[in-house]
This record gives sequence, C-alpha cells and structure tokens, in this order.
Amino acid sequence: MGETKVATIQDLQPGASLCVEVDGKKIALFNVDGKYYAIDDTCTHVGGSLSEGEVSSTSVTCPWHGAQFDLETGNVLRAPAQQEVNCYKVLVEGDDIKIETP
Ligand code: FES
Repeated sequence: MGETKVATIQDLQPGASLCVEVDGKKIALFNVDGKYYAIDDTCTHVGGSLSEGEVSSTSVTCPWHGAQFDLETGNVLRAPAQQEVNCYKVLVEGDDIKIETP
C-alpha cells in the first residue's frame, strides 16, 4: 500500500477533474463540491477517459458511449460498460492531494 502525491488542492477546484498517473496507471481525480474521488481513468467498455466525463452528483458519465460509474464505489450504474473500475482512497494533507494505491 502506498501514498502518492498527485496534485495540490489549487490544481483541482470544485467541479474540476484531472487525469493523473500513479505507477504507470491512469487515475481520474474529481473534486465534487469539495469532496475528492479517485477511480481508474480508463472506462472498462473500450477505454474512454473518465476524467473527461460529465459529473453529476456522485457519478461520472463516460464521454464515449455514455456508461455511468459511481465515484464512491467504481460500480457500473449504466451500460454499455459491464465491469466496475477500481476506486482509490484520496487523502488531503495540507495543500497536497494524495492517492492510496494497493
Ligand atoms: S468507452 Fe466508455 S462507454 Fe464506451
């Protein structure tokens, strides 16, 4: 288990999202009204970038074919994706945003 600094709070204002890389893996980071979420950036359908998707409440819609994922669990909320994405714990220490990865 490791913590990796991926951004600062200045990089990610409320309503914003970012694609960051940890150990060669792309992770989508979201700030939804001051609460941070991190899930795999790559949609399990055919690879759309979820950090470019539209966020509504605690879900994100893939920009490619509209699959929807829960930001809190990574679960699929709407097809065509069938498989969930990994979900990561986000830690804020001072100005730093860190992601905990296994
Ligand atoms: S790539 Fe995400 S819905 Fe198709």
